[in-house]
Amino acid sequence: MTGGGYWRAGVVQSVPPTGTTDLGPGYLDPALLPVRLLAQAYAQALDEFGPAALTYGENRGPAPLREAIAARVGTGPEHVLVTAGTSQGLHLVAGLFGRPDDVVLAEPLSYDYGLRILTDRRLRIEVIESDMDGPVPGALTAAVRRVRRAGRRVGFAYLIPTHRNPTGVTVPDERRRALVTEAADVGVPIVEDDAYAGLRYDGPPEPPSLHALAGRRGVVRLGTFAKTLAPGLRLGWLEADPRLVDRCAATGWADSGGGFNHLAALAVAGLLSGGDYDRHVAWLREELRARRDALVDALGVVPPYGGFFVWLPAPAGDGQALRERAAAARVSVADGRRFGAAGAGAVRVAFSFQPPPVLSAAGHRLAAARAASARLDATTTSD
Ligand SMILES: Cc1ncc(COP(=O)(O)O)c(C=O)c1O
Repeated sequence: MTGGGYWRAGVVQSVPPTGTTDLGPGYLDPALLPVRLLAQAYAQALDEFGPAALTYGENRGPAPLREAIAARVGTGPEHVLVTAGTSQGLHLVAGLFGRPDDVVLAEPLSYDYGLRILTDRRLRIEVIESDMDGPVPGALTAAVRRVRRAGRRVGFAYLIPTHRNPTGVTVPDERRRALVTEAADVGVPIVEDDAYAGLRYDGPPEPPSLHALAGRRGVVRLGTFAKTLAPGLRLGWLEADPRLVDRCAATGWADSGGGFNHLAALAVAGLLSGGDYDRHVAWLREELRARRDALVDALGVVPPYGGFFVWLPAPAGDGQALRERAAAARVSVADGRRFGAAGAGAVRVAFSFQPPPVLSAAGHRLAAARAASARLDATTTSD
């Protein structure tokens, strides 16, 4: 269902190329966007709150949403600020924690647009030594020392510990504890981008957030409804120390315009408290699990436990050759370099944007393209 023809340039941010199966976009398939559920939720919010739904909202976001989020994460509403999504939350805290020219420490493969938000703020990105499980113990401390020795300031660490975009990896429990301890010891705040939290399809349970492990101090956790409901809501939240929530709520934008996306916030509050949100996410997880399985079965790779992505190394580390062969097979994938120099030898494949039969067919074509690249490499190497 693509909005009766309205899924087009000028209305939506991007339109997939025709004649190609697009496994690039890291967002939900149009068929997974809950149009009717949200129509009812907006109608209910307007009925219930009347004009109060249409005026400037409380600076921190309306209490019904903050209370519902706080109850879910086991804290009080004073720890929660409603945002216009993770991107806006990141922009906001980057301005509070960072000054121009400060360094932000990030994983070597990280969310490209998140990094853009930071460089837009004139922050400089440096990487923390990591392996496939995430930052290696001691590496955060070493990176902070390196930066400070060079006479620069570390503003904060930007980490995506759960089903990370682009690799799909979740940082295990003990590494999380090490990160939180190291950051506290060197006095560097962590901004935890948890956009994919809750989107786990199997495997061990999702580990606790860095924010929870840190006793809710020194870590700001960014959450969003973009991945579980709809990105067009532009709605999310941040969890932080109440003093930081107060600082956010005392900024000019809040005093001037009130809380972000007030009507959307009230609509989503109704979904959270009435159980519709949980039912929807349970359904969505099954849909995404089927999409993941269709893709990984066709590719013959190990499935990620959750999120939207499969990280696919290219034969001989030649991501460009793989992308070209994939394009010739009418499959488009994301260039691994978008996510950091370390991504040159791989591509990111999203299973969120296409239905299972399309993923299966495109996955087989991509697997064949990859096998052909590997054969070519074997011939070249033996020459
Ligand atoms: C890691 C990560 N953070 C943030 C976002 C964007 O979130 P939002 O739509 O809430 O701004 C995305 C979307 O791709 C993402 O992958």
